[in-house]
Amino acid sequence: MFPIRLPLMAALLGIVLSQYDYGYDYGPAEVSTPTPRCSNECECPTHFPTAMYCNDRELKVVPMVPTGIKYVYLQNNLLTEIKAGVFDNVTDLRWLILDNNELTNGKIEKGTIDKLTKLEKLYINFNKLTEAVVPKSSAMEELKLMGNQITKFPGGLLTGMENLTSVYLSKNQLTSDGIAGAFKGLKSLVLLDVSENKLKKLPTGMPSSLMMLYADHNEIESIPASYLQKLPALEYLRVSYNQLKDSGLPAGVFNVSSLVELDLSYNKLGSIPEVGPNLEHLYLQVNEINKFDTSSFCKVVSPVSYSKIRDLRLDGNNLTAHSMPFEAAQCLPLATEIIF
Ligand SMILES: *[C@@H]1O[C@H](CO)[C@@H](O)[C@H](O)[C@H]1NC(C)=O
Ligand SMILES: *[C@@H]1O[C@H](CO)[C@@H](O)[C@H](O)[C@H]1NC(C)=O
Ligand SMILES: *[C@@H]1O[C@H](CO)[C@@H](O)[C@H](O)[C@H]1NC(C)=O
Ligand SMILES: *[C@@H]1O[C@H](CO)[C@@H](O)[C@H](O)[C@H]1NC(C)=O
Repeated sequence: MFPIRLPLMAALLGIVLSQYDYGYDYGPAEVSTPTPRCSNECECPTHFPTAMYCNDRELKVVPMVPTGIKYVYLQNNLLTEIKAGVFDNVTDLRWLILDNNELTNGKIEKGTIDKLTKLEKLYINFNKLTEAVVPKSSAMEELKLMGNQITKFPGGLLTGMENLTSVYLSKNQLTSDGIAGAFKGLKSLVLLDVSENKLKKLPTGMPSSLMMLYADHNEIESIPASYLQKLPALEYLRVSYNQLKDSGLPAGVFNVSSLVELDLSYNKLGSIPEVGPNLEHLYLQVNEINKFDTSSFCKVVSPVSYSKIRDLRLDGNNLTAHSMPFEAAQCLPLATEIIF
């Protein structure tokens, strides 16, 4: 993402050339554009003059961001508010990093963050937000709002963000109703992290591009029969530390060909669910499983039909290695790590 650092000589030469204003198109485009002024409190490195580093400075106020800056780092400060006007000269800002501050929704003035229509990355992790803060930028690629007190994420906030690939919302107070429809229609969404919230079910209306869904540490009791069928690209599903019981898992719910990793540890399952043919990592530790049924992995056991499971964790259940039937070895020939 960062422009490649110039070797020292070339950098010095670049400075000399620009001093004499030869109008040379020298080095990366970022360097040849006029160097923005930097706020006094912050640092804008000469090799990366469009970035402004204001992190770890005990700042209470967001400094005015000068024209030409595209990347602003304000993490690890004491910011409680964002006043109107601070971003007025940088409506084309690309990255804004505000992690580990004291921001509340009421003190982020209208027309500040929401006006940044070219923003690609917004991080406001570990602040005091109670509502999602989302810029009206169709260029958004990554949104991180972990570790706040957000209770809902209304549908429509992300509409039209065709390049949005990852959304991190873990460690909030989100409910299933509070996020209903929030992610509909996002063509590029690959990763959603909603772990450590108050969800009673996996989020609905997820786009078919999704590859990673993390929902650990919630209150999920069941998964609907066709949930994974609607997510043909999903490879990693994590639902550990929830309230899943056998009765909440319809037959074959995890029997899909896309899944590579499935984490169901720390739930209340009494048996091993049927899994799909490409699953490699299955985590079932700390459940209430008391039988090892080979048919969860192989409907037929033969030298040409076997499971791709490599790691299987079954510790913290009512099982020992002796619970494995004889044909398990032939069904799971790649499983070098089975932990009881
Ligand atoms: C903001 O833009 C105005 C008008 O171009 C200019 O006069 C002012 O110096 C700029 N402020 C900063 C901090 O860049
Ligand atoms: C999405 O990304 C592509 C490729 O980088 C870019 O051409 C396009 O303009 C982006 N879309 C928006 C709305 O920014
Ligand atoms: C998974 O579904 C396929 C058909 O889609 C079926 O042939 C196979 O036996 C099922 N696997 C298990 C372990 O039930
Ligand atoms: C544990 O497994 C053994 C042998 O399969 C069974 O007899 C016992 O009832 C099980 N205990 C529990 C708590 O399920």
